[in-house]
Amino acid sequence: MTKTALITGITGQDGSFLGELMLERGYNVIGVVRRSSSPNFWRIQSILNHERMTLIEGDVTDLSSMIRIIGKYQPEYIYNLAAQSFVPTSWEQPLLTAQATGVGAVNIFEATRIASPNSRVYQASSSEMFGLQPTGSFQDESTPFYPRSPYACAKAYAHQMAINYRESHGLFIVSGILFNHESDRRGIQFVTRKISNAVARIHLGLQDSVALGYLGAERDWGYAKDYVRAMELMLDHDTPLDCVVATGKRHTVQYFVEHAFQSVGLEWQRYVTQDDKYMRPAEVPSLCGNADRARQELGWQPSVELPKIIELMIAADIQRNQE
Ligand code: NAP
Ligand code: GDD
Repeated sequence: MTKTALITGITGQDGSFLGELMLERGYNVIGVVRRSSSPNFWRIQSILNHERMTLIEGDVTDLSSMIRIIGKYQPEYIYNLAAQSFVPTSWEQPLLTAQATGVGAVNIFEATRIASPNSRVYQASSSEMFGLQPTGSFQDESTPFYPRSPYACAKAYAHQMAINYRESHGLFIVSGILFNHESDRRGIQFVTRKISNAVARIHLGLQDSVALGYLGAERDWGYAKDYVRAMELMLDHDTPLDCVVATGKRHTVQYFVEHAFQSVGLEWQRYVTQDDKYMRPAEVPSLCGNADRARQELGWQPSVELPKIIELMIAADIQRNQE
């Protein structure tokens, strides 16, 4: 019989890639979308009308709708990718972030416990939970958390609750502690896409400059399509195992900027300004993951290096800005 994968956050970057992957694998896909005044389906255009794809309205902050949806479809796999995922917004809307990113996840666990306890659940945890770490260090599954934003605190709550639901109720719940991952479907506010879109527009003569925040921040950036494969491997594993997913390579925001401008033959210093409004109340200066467990236990490895990711993002933004 055809298996079912339910995905919250299907309209987001990861949800759209995961939806495509699940359809390719032959699953029925149930995509949970929240109602908005106008649909936000640009990332899932190519799968919207697939015969095994169903979109259903629901919000992860609404437990009763989650119970009904999960109970109705009895999905073999549930991927909880829904979140208020932009760190700066979390200082402006800390309680909404707690509800969507923290309690929303627990609503999924609770709905599973009540309505479909044999479902396997994937929780989208984040390297932001590690927060402030010694410069030059690598984070793995045993690194203590030091969350530095309401977003990171909400993710840490969901992460610990996932462990508790697993240990107390025997549910198959795993958390992928994913480091930053990017693509041409990345939201426009995140630094990589903000830069790739600005570089494309400057290259095309549509924009003169771009204002950024802290250029010294270091991140471990991978390719989103590689990271949704890790999610699948985690739910297919014999036992529930939380895993760090990362490339193990760190680069500064400034490196990203330099490479991006260089790739279209421009000198970044002429176009980049700094604006305090993009500085954060508390910065996470450096993150870099050790994904040995994912390599050894899941056979996962990243396949796309950062320079290539930057180039593909700029190429897509050049095309989009010409349409
Ligand atoms: P994204 O592009 O921001 O997508 C977030 C998704 O969540 C969107 O589909 C959004 O719907 C949905 N959503 C937000 N609030 C919701 C609610 N109350 N009920 C139902 N759906 C809701 O995020 P992403 O980059 O794909 O990341 C996917 C997940 O991984 C997120 O949980 C994120 O926090 C986590 N994560 C991401 C990274 C990364 O580098 N990308 C790293 C670690 C962890 P709308 O389209 O309606 O806004
Ligand atoms: N967004 C943004 N805009 N960030 C900037 C800017 C700017 O103009 N200038 C510098 N930065 C720096 C931020 O201060 C941060 O240190 C770094 O660029 C990356 O910022 P984002 O791209 O917004 O991502 P993030 O690392 O805060 O969070 C992302 O990755 C997490 C995983 O570690 C998000 O996808 C989270 O949802 C995810 O959990």
